Amino acid sequence: MQLSLLDPATPEEIARSRAEELRRLLEQHNRLYYLQDAPVISDAEYDALFRELQQLERQFPELVTSSSPTQRVGGAPLAKFAPLAHRLPMLSLENAVNESEIADFDQRLKKILGLPAEQGITYLCEPKMDGLAVELIYSEGVLTSAATRGDGLTGEDVTENVRTIRSLPLRLTGSNVPRLLEVRGEVFLSLESFQQINREKEENGEPPFVNPRNAAAGSLRQLDPRITARRPLSIFCYAPGLVEGAEFDCQQAFFDSISAWGLPVNPLVRRANNIDEAIEYYRQMLLQRESLPYEIDGTVIKVDAFHLQRELGEKSRSPRWAVACKFPPRQAETVLEDILLSVGRTGVITPVAQLRPVEISGVTVSRATLHNWDEIALKDIRIGDTVLVERAGDVIPAVVRVLTEKRSGAERPLPPPERCPECGSAIVRIADEVAVRCMGLSCPPQIRQSILHFASRNAMDIEGLGEKFVEQLLSLGLVTSVADIYRLSKDDFMRFERMGDKLAAKLLAAIDKSKQQELGRFIFALGIRHVGERTAKALAQAFGSLEHLEQATMEELVSIRDVGATVAESIRTFFDNQDNIAVIRRMLAAGVTPTVEQKKVGGRFTGKSFVFTGTLTRFTREEAQRLVENEGGGAVGSVSKKTGYVVAGADAGSKLTKARELGVTVLSEEEFLELLEQPDTSG
Ligand code: IVH
Repeated sequence: MQLSLLDPATPEEIARSRAEELRRLLEQHNRLYYLQDAPVISDAEYDALFRELQQLERQFPELVTSSSPTQRVGGAPLAKFAPLAHRLPMLSLENAVNESEIADFDQRLKKILGLPAEQGITYLCEPKMDGLAVELIYSEGVLTSAATRGDGLTGEDVTENVRTIRSLPLRLTGSNVPRLLEVRGEVFLSLESFQQINREKEENGEPPFVNPRNAAAGSLRQLDPRITARRPLSIFCYAPGLVEGAEFDCQQAFFDSISAWGLPVNPLVRRANNIDEAIEYYRQMLLQRESLPYEIDGTVIKVDAFHLQRELGEKSRSPRWAVACKFPPRQAETVLEDILLSVGRTGVITPVAQLRPVEISGVTVSRATLHNWDEIALKDIRIGDTVLVERAGDVIPAVVRVLTEKRSGAERPLPPPERCPECGSAIVRIADEVAVRCMGLSCPPQIRQSILHFASRNAMDIEGLGEKFVEQLLSLGLVTSVADIYRLSKDDFMRFERMGDKLAAKLLAAIDKSKQQELGRFIFALGIRHVGERTAKALAQAFGSLEHLEQATMEELVSIRDVGATVAESIRTFFDNQDNIAVIRRMLAAGVTPTVEQKKVGGRFTGKSFVFTGTLTRFTREEAQRLVENEGGGAVGSVSKKTGYVVAGADAGSKLTKARELGVTVLSEEEFLELLEQPDTSG
């Protein structure tokens, strides 16, 4: 049959062109968001476009392309990474460690090129990102593979993980996209993401990463791309590999082209007319270093003109036309004089290294965390050891390793304690956990920390109730648990040193105000193990009240985003403990009424809970959960009278039966989607 332009388009043709349009829009907004830092639509609008594309692709699976924005997180976990050979070796750089070595580099080049000393060479100056190098391959504009540097000749195939980097285009945009573009760049984590990952690790009782680079490497070398997708990696591209179908005559032109194709390039790249300007850039970056949102460990100076680069050529491991100008290290050697024990809010006893004070880039360091006894054993840390200490990413300094070659034999290991150093209670080591903890109910530092945590800014936000006052409350015997905070009177405060009428009134007002704090913050403030801010918020959203949370079953708990078996168990243990219930009841009796924050005020599902059961084919459970949450509802794991809807896929079993028994509305997947598409009349 002959097709004519006048023929009406088939549904598939309409879908195909809409899908293509959606992809272009999503890519464009991604660029505006991640590269230009100038989004023009809201997250919700972006999500709506994304969902529309997902829906189209579900309806017409033949329309799915590997470079579709919906396909960033692909396949199942790998058993191991496959080797991937680099067509051109990935070289390393020679180092210069001070300004005079940078000047030597310039001299050397002029000699080889036969240039007079007074003639300036044009350089490109770049921050030296402290991450890990990767090679990306775009064939016909589509990202087809990515590999780590490896030994420079062969790396590991990390394509699936690299695809999860949101600022990286899965296909290039703009004009004159080359047939083949191999491009090298550095994958890194922002300091903010690094700190976030470490907070989560600590909440889960895992040892945190020592520095952002290790965290980036650990995230990129995850065998499960879904884990990588949760680690917000970034990348800046900085060098060409093999390229077919495009030519650049200098590094600046290369950057201009790849930026136009949508690849991320560090905005701090600058041209220098001679080596003095390049040295000035190095000085400027050294000053800026502390205020950048990511770690850099120096600058890189490259000869700008590619014909000069070719003329200069390469040595076996590094090009002659570039040099890495390293900043002074943030590591230092010192002696570990003692291991102190610090008791935290949950009773965990953390070993802390007391160091012979040493200056690391302008800061005197005298303590470093050792995390736990497994870490001490793993690193074989002993009192008296000479250790390498690192300050990185704004966190507490960490002991990187022991310099065993400096041992005299007098060093001695410190076994885990048997009694709490603060209250003398016996110490327990819980199975499957690296931490040792004091189980003493009246262990002073535990009470102190739990009150400080309760009152802290991200928890109940009781302004003014900091270390100084908590210390006095404890020593006057006015509080033994957080509930006592709500029984304090002005007279109690007046017993403090240097306390005036005004301040006492202010403190009381702050305490009073916190009675109406958001439920998510209240849950976080309780200090339930493994329940961080994010999880607490998710719990508040899903259960809507403290009473519902208290009654939640393991099954209901694990159905919440972010809540795995360990977290669920810890929540159950917390609420099964009568002492905890008593403390909460005392707070409620004193007038504490946590308020419920709704993600979408007036969303059509506000206050409604959904149970998804059976085999779902139109969406995944996570997607469904997000859809419901976006509309102000919550997804739970089991059916009760209070359940708003049960969405049943194929082969639904006992939950469906129960829903019918209880008279809960049952929807098919299609009906659920239709419900979502109805105009929102909830306001
Ligand atoms: S260019 C042949 N530019 O530093 C030139 N490297 O010490 C290849 N690095 O392996 C490298 N930022 O991992 C270049 N702006 C930058 C860089 C950079 C960080 C890393 C890269 C390289 C290492 C060499």
